Amino acid sequence: MLDLESLLREATVAIAEASDLKSLDDARVHYLGKKGKLTESLKGLGLLSPEERPAAGQKVNDVKVKIQTLIEERTEHLQKNQIAAALAKDTIDVTLPGRRQSGGSLHPVTKVRERIETLFTQMGFMVLDGPEIEDDYHNFVALNIPELHPARAMQDTFYFADGTLLRTHMSPVQIRTMKATKAPLRMIAMGRVYRRDFDLTHTPMFHQLEGLMIGENVSFADLKGMLTEFLQAFFETSLPVRFRPSYFPFTEPSAEVDMQCQNCKGEGCRICKNTGWLEILGCGMVHPNVLKHVDIDSERYTGWAWGMGLDRLAMLRYGINDLRTLFENDLRFLRQF
Ligand code: DAH
Repeated sequence: MLDLESLLREATVAIAEASDLKSLDDARVHYLGKKGKLTESLKGLGLLSPEERPAAGQKVNDVKVKIQTLIEERTEHLQKNQIAAALAKDTIDVTLPGRRQSGGSLHPVTKVRERIETLFTQMGFMVLDGPEIEDDYHNFVALNIPELHPARAMQDTFYFADGTLLRTHMSPVQIRTMKATKAPLRMIAMGRVYRRDFDLTHTPMFHQLEGLMIGENVSFADLKGMLTEFLQAFFETSLPVRFRPSYFPFTEPSAEVDMQCQNCKGEGCRICKNTGWLEILGCGMVHPNVLKHVDIDSERYTGWAWGMGLDRLAMLRYGINDLRTLFENDLRFLRQF
């Protein structure tokens, strides 16, 4: 008969030392399995006398139950440990800072465009565009720009081999609109224009706004009123505006408009070259020759038009002091808007 006491002690230690479910199962097989130690000792019962057998059998069974109980307890303990370890490993620390998604921002010129669109649609103007590749007729001829005008020279305009060109201003959209819709009409158009120019204050591509209003009894007073209103609404202040006589082939009479420099409030500074004024747009009454080109009766209808640079407007509104920053696509610059 085996020494059941020491078998139990040995099994107790082995079970306590099983550090995972696999080694615990190995221990179970080692003691309780078909060829396990306790099963071996059961075989020994056959060698005992019939009188001794029941007591010995009872003893072996007691040990078996004890070992089974120990294994069950240890199993439960190890399973709990396993779950606790898994939970600890997958813990989410909700106090860690999150990863933000950085949003984009609108380009300052886009913001200016949207602002102008809002202001003029309120005054009943349509918002239109035309092609960036224009022909000589829409860009020059129909706008009363004569054959030998310097703007038509190769050094000012980008020409393609077939004689078409990159529009040098937004004024051709006037022509296309008047041809298509006739009088009366109110429209603005904003877009890219191109000139062979590149220095501190000029880039070969820049943005212009063109505006036009045609109707009966439309006068220079309407022009003055609406443009003054617009500039004051755009800059959100009742800034002084002045009109100076000027010349454009497509308007007669023509004027240039200056607004008070908002940097120095007219005192004179670096931005306004100490004049207190900033030249901001060109305008005038549409020339009868232009109306003739688009078959609008210049005896019945009159109109006014104006044109201005959007990049300049963006620079003034947002206090940008270098034109080139608008076109360099530097995110550190763009993210400020
Ligand atoms: N087209 C002119 C330019 O690019 C701007 C301009 C001036 C447009 C006066 C007009 C105008 O409609 O009346 O320089």
